[in-house]
Amino acid sequence: TTRPSEQKKEHLFKVLVIGELATGKTAVVKRYVHNFFSEHYRATIGVDFALKIVKYADDTVIRLQLWDIAGQERFGNMTRVYYKEAVGCLIVFDVTRASTFDAVMKWKNDLDIKVQLPDGNPVPCVLLANKCDLAKEGLVNNTTQMDEFCREKGFCKWFETSAKENVNIEAAANYLLGEIMKHT
Ligand code: GTP
Ligand code: MG
Repeated sequence: TTRPSEQKKEHLFKVLVIGELATGKTAVVKRYVHNFFSEHYRATIGVDFALKIVKYADDTVIRLQLWDIAGQERFGNMTRVYYKEAVGCLIVFDVTRASTFDAVMKWKNDLDIKVQLPDGNPVPCVLLANKCDLAKEGLVNNTTQMDEFCREKGFCKWFETSAKENVNIEAAANYLLGEIMKHT
């Protein structure tokens, strides 16, 4: 007979969380990892790290390393360093500010230019329309067009999320993990 411990699969995944200033990247990570939310805004400097152990299936454990990158880094020179060896990405925009959606493709292009999976594919990327507890501005009001945008631009999927009210954070993360697992 085989002991269960001999059948366990373990993965270590580095996942990036990127997007414009104050879109809620840190709040999403804090909600996901610590089930905590604060209204207080303190801009991330450089990058913050978090680790979550996810029981993905009966026989599979994922050590998920989250790299929560400062929005202001889009204008810096460090993203190439931060993106290195990432296997997944969450791009976050703020549904109350259409300008943060307009910048989503700048982040996506930066990502795709600077990092690929070992098999040469682009890194799976899920789009988060965050702060959905508040009034939405722009394209995000049109589900069909958002679906189309994601298909065209190479996002796996998009989710309306709220770090504040804990909406869809886990669903989005699990979806991304599923996409990452396809490449393992
Ligand atoms: P940078 O580190 O500067 O890039 O910002 P960030 O993207 O990490 O944003 P952060 O998580 O610090 O959140 C910015 C502000 O938005 C904070 O005041 C949060 O409390 C607020 N916030 C984040 N997520 C939500 C949400 O889902 N709903 C609401 N209402 N507010 C949110
Ligand atoms: Mg932050």
